[in-house]
Amino acid sequence: MRHLLSTGDLSRSEALAILDLAEEMHEVQRRSIKKLPALRGRTIINMFFEDSTRTRTSFEIAGKWMSADTINVSAKGSSVSKGESLRDTMLTLDSMGVDCFVIRHHSSGAVAQAAGWVQAHVVNAGDGAHEHPTQALLDAYTMRRHFRTRGLGDGFEGKRIAIVGDLLHSRVVRSNVLLQRVLGGTVTLVAPPTLLPTGVENWDAAVTSDFDSVLDRADVVMMLRVQRERMASGFFPTEREYTAGFGLTRERLARLKPTAAIMHPGPMNRGVEISSEAADAASSRVLDQVSAGVAVRMSVLYHLLGGEGEE
Ligand code: ASP
Ligand code: CP
Repeated sequence: MRHLLSTGDLSRSEALAILDLAEEMHEVQRRSIKKLPALRGRTIINMFFEDSTRTRTSFEIAGKWMSADTINVSAKGSSVSKGESLRDTMLTLDSMGVDCFVIRHHSSGAVAQAAGWVQAHVVNAGDGAHEHPTQALLDAYTMRRHFRTRGLGDGFEGKRIAIVGDLLHSRVVRSNVLLQRVLGGTVTLVAPPTLLPTGVENWDAAVTSDFDSVLDRADVVMMLRVQRERMASGFFPTEREYTAGFGLTRERLARLKPTAAIMHPGPMNRGVEISSEAADAASSRVLDQVSAGVAVRMSVLYHLLGGEGEE
């Protein structure tokens, strides 16, 4: 694997290999000394041109726990703020002998473009409303562990995954749909018509605007954030109406199967797309997703960089 830009580029065996290695990496989190020599001597630059809490921190932790040297670059504080282009910035940093760039950018396609300019490996940490492949991988990892603990087996085949909310502005939904195409889960997308991406009818997923119709069958309910910062105009009348139609309220929580997992990539708008009762429920996997994020990112970095240059 040279880059990780889209989950659509992963074969079933590549995706499963990342999830399986992540199981081993997860063990490191439980140790008192969290250090593996796996990426000693490698240099990873985290370039975040958009805000992040989970992704940036977990990539940095993942690199550090595997003994890589990790450096953070953001638009503010770099010469991007003086008008340097993305291409010049990438070429400049690549010339320093960097092994891997982890990039989040506000433009869809910018990370793939950057990958074409550099010698180093590139990981997409979220590009506009396009993709967020490591999020989908950590989601799959979390689902698989949840299925196991509920005695539902190890596989995704036959599992019903409902992804609900602001799908139009979400990169998480696209990466999840593409990943489940190889893993085998059955995806239903739930959103008001105004928040559906164009061309969604060609995705490998059913689409509905009736959240209540999927509640009692879903094995996973993944709630997505209403992304106000990407909304130029009103996509729904009021927040209250949005919550009434598409929020995981206390009433809807009571209608889920007892074995269903509640997920949210974060950050959550409590009281809008998810109630606090649902976010904090025993079946909520939200913090497990965060924990899995470190293990899955360790696995991804190892797949890209591990074993290289051991001459
Ligand atoms: N944190 C996720 C992302 O960056 C989801 C979100 O922001 O709602 O795509
Ligand atoms: N889930 C996610 O990508 O969170 P951040 O935006 O905080 O990184």
